[in-house]
This record gives sequence, C-alpha cells and structure tokens, in this order.
Amino acid sequence: MMRQMSRRGKFITFEGLDGTGKSTQMRRLAAALRKSGHEVVETREPGGTATGEKIRKVLLDSETSALAPLAEMALMFASRAQHIAEVIEPALAAGSIVLCDRFTDSTEAYQGGGRKLGSPPVRELHRVLCGDLQPDLTILLEANPHVSVSRARKRNRRASRAGARGHDESRFEQETRAFFMRVRESYMAIAKREPGRVVIVDARGTPGQTHERIVEVVRKKLRI
Ligand SMILES: Nc1ncnc2c1ncn2[C@@H]1O[C@H](COP(=O)(O)OP(=O)(O)O)[C@@H](O)[C@H]1O
Ligand SMILES: [Mg+2]
Repeated sequence: MMRQMSRRGKFITFEGLDGTGKSTQMRRLAAALRKSGHEVVETREPGGTATGEKIRKVLLDSETSALAPLAEMALMFASRAQHIAEVIEPALAAGSIVLCDRFTDSTEAYQGGGRKLGSPPVRELHRVLCGDLQPDLTILLEANPHVSVSRARKRNRRASRAGARGHDESRFEQETRAFFMRVRESYMAIAKREPGRVVIVDARGTPGQTHERIVEVVRKKLRI
C-alpha cells in the first residue's frame, strides 16, 4: 500500500482569468519537467478527452446561446468526470506528472462566483462526480484583469480567423467586467481557504519571469 502510494504521480493545475498565461506557462513547465527526466501529461478543461472536447465546443462557442447556468455547470462536470476516468487517474496511477489547464477551481470561480451559483453546489458535485480528487498543487496566475482579458480577446480573434468557419472559443469573453470581478474574488477566496494547495503567482511580468516563479514554487512545494 505504502509503496503504491509513493509511486503515484503529481497533479498540478493552472488557474486564473482568461489571458493570464495559463496555457503558455503550462507548456513551459512541461518542457522544463521533461528536460529533467519526468514523464509529463499535458491536458485541459473543459476537454482533455474526445467526449470532453465536444463538450468544450458547446461550452465555449459564442454560438451557444441561452445556456442555463446550471446546465453550464453540469456540462463542465460531465467533461471533468470523463477526463478524470480516462486521462488523469490513469496517468497519476502510472506515476506521471499531470499538468491541467483549468480544473474544478474554474467551475467554482466562473459558475459559482461569476454565475452566482455559489461554492457549495460546486464542491458537492466535485465530491460526487470527481471522487473529490484534489490537485497536489494549484498555480493561480494573477495579473491585471483588464490586461489579461484583452490579451485573451486578441488571441481568440487570431484563433478564430485561423480556425474553422463559425467556430470560436469566445463565449465567456462576452461577459461583463462585473462578472470577471466576481470570478477573481472567488479565486481569491479559494486561495485563502486552501493555502496549502493554491499558490498565487504574479503573472504581470514577462513569460520568462513568470516561468521562473512557477519553477521555484514547484520545486519548493513538490520537491521536483
Ligand atoms: N507574460 C506575458 N506577457 C505578455 N503576453 C503574454 C504573457 N503570457 C502570455 N501572453 C500572451 O497572451 C495571450 C494569452 O496567453 P495564454 O497563455 O493563452 O493565457 P490563458 O491560457 O491563461 O488564457 C497569448 O497570446 C500569449 O501569447
Ligand atoms: Mg489557455
């Protein structure tokens, strides 16, 4: 039993508002960890599996209209339950380091905070549908919300010009400033509630500066 537990991998999640640099930083950390010989699995939510990517399209496409907040939350968890079963748990059991771009904290921040569904239903669904799986470490990227949201808008415009006609990932981007402030508040409340798991990382500098901070946190917290 003890031996099996010591061989389990590590689960690291990246959180923060759109455009704070989660995807950029996850790629960089993955490269650094692989360079030092670790087996790394990079994945994302919503998505991460074939079914999850279909759900992602429904959730993020701006053509999805009038999605009820509870339906939105349920779809996030449907994607996540599949992701845990198909990707995350097997990879952790095999001893890999799993890096995940967004996880349940995003649901608590966006649907709980942003959509005002509250934290308790999110945490309850996480317990029921996700076996209460907790990351070993969560990197919460913190930047000026106006700057990061406008970065994300620019990136999304570039991506939808390059991508398939009519498909985009900008549904959340149409939300109001007040929505993003609630999301941010919820993230801060999570960090305060779970300081052992969630580390706030200053993401206002260059990608390289943020990367160095993250490497330091990972080294200290997980000894890798
Ligand atoms: N530190 C940074 N400074 C300036 N631009 C950045 C920085 N980090 C990322 N970007 C750019 O901002 C956009 C959003 O970054 P991204 O990693 O996609 O954020 P997220 O995954 O959190 O939405 C991308 O175009 C990316 O190249
Ligand atoms: Mg991203």
